[in-house]
Amino acid sequence: MLLKGTHILLGVTGSIAAYKAASLVRLFVKAGAEVQVVMTPSAAEFITPLTLSTLSKHPVHTSVIDGDSWNNHVELGLWADVMIVAPLTATTLGKMAHGICDSVVVATYLSARCPVMIAPAMDLDMWQHPATQANIDLLKSYGNHLIPVGDGVLASGLSGPGRMAEPEDILKAVEQILKQKQELAGKKVIVTSGPTYEALDPVRFIGNHSTGKMGAAISEQLAQRGAEVIHISGPNAVLPTQDGITIINVKSAQQMHDAATQQFADSDAAILAAAVADFRPETTADQKIKKKPGQNEMSINLVKTPDIAAALGQAKTDKQILVGFALETQNEIENATKKLHKKNLDFIVLNSMADKGAGFGHDTNKVTIIDREESVTPYPLQSKKAVAADIVDCLVRYLI
Ligand code: C5P
Repeated sequence: MLLKGTHILLGVTGSIAAYKAASLVRLFVKAGAEVQVVMTPSAAEFITPLTLSTLSKHPVHTSVIDGDSWNNHVELGLWADVMIVAPLTATTLGKMAHGICDSVVVATYLSARCPVMIAPAMDLDMWQHPATQANIDLLKSYGNHLIPVGDGVLASGLSGPGRMAEPEDILKAVEQILKQKQELAGKKVIVTSGPTYEALDPVRFIGNHSTGKMGAAISEQLAQRGAEVIHISGPNAVLPTQDGITIINVKSAQQMHDAATQQFADSDAAILAAAVADFRPETTADQKIKKKPGQNEMSINLVKTPDIAAALGQAKTDKQILVGFALETQNEIENATKKLHKKNLDFIVLNSMADKGAGFGHDTNKVTIIDREESVTPYPLQSKKAVAADIVDCLVRYLI
């Protein structure tokens, strides 16, 4: 179940062991992972991209440029939770070790921020050559993980070390790496996400444009790192799909408050990404409000909703970590810092409204994290998944 929902990027290079890439993709897909494949042109001589695209249900890229369109290897590198190069030839090994970016496999490798695993495959003398071993040492020094070669009969007829690890062993090695990343195992974290709807009557409400994409990305990131996640979502929001996430659906700020305060007592942290309405109609009509003949105006009296962040900030013990968001249009850093102290947060994530591609509805976001010591860390415009990883990295530093 560890692999369910995990994004696996498989790089295939030109060794006879490339035929085993089909079994590998199959195993990953069967385990619930989402798989994308990049190949070198020589790998495509051993196994067709069509075979791997059919099994992975994604297009397979063999070049940085397909026809007249550019394959975004940067995006693929960021999409991946783990990249595996299997089989890895001596040629691509050398290129990865020295940053020689002449294939989509190496381009993606250089862009990947996730753990990278390599399963080399070559003949025994090639494997034992000091150049190969020096390149393996270089990759290890970059933090890449070696899946050891097998010992046995090789395609050349010789016998010895150099065979690619069997697909089942590669699967086990991937599971092992994902387990190691589970720094939040045993921690319970609440995430609030999406908008709240404040009912005027049975059919109308006051709400906002929050899509819940940021909150869903945070919950998925937390679950991938082993946390037990309670995802409290407002209506019509994007929901996380990873295992290990309990979803509580709410509508109003009051309901979100009640769920969050109830769950917080035995939680280790809360990340408050919801766009909570600050005010709600004072009364909610039982029946649909009808306009009266000749009526040209109507006013609605609004009253304050509970501030969930402030309530949790008050209830918080020294061991609990509270993270809030701020969306400011002026004096951004100053206002976000004030909010951090006022609500007793441990750090606050300031959303930029000024940058194109950031904020509501976009798949990208640009944030600045401010902590209690008022140190300010700006991040670049990046996918919401990458932003979620930065936020969770920051949380891990507090919790562990
Ligand atoms: O005060 P403001 O709405 O700008 O604060 C934003 C932060 O406070 C966010 O983390 C938001 O989820 C949280 N908040 C809340 N309950 C409210 C209003 C905001 O939890 N009623």
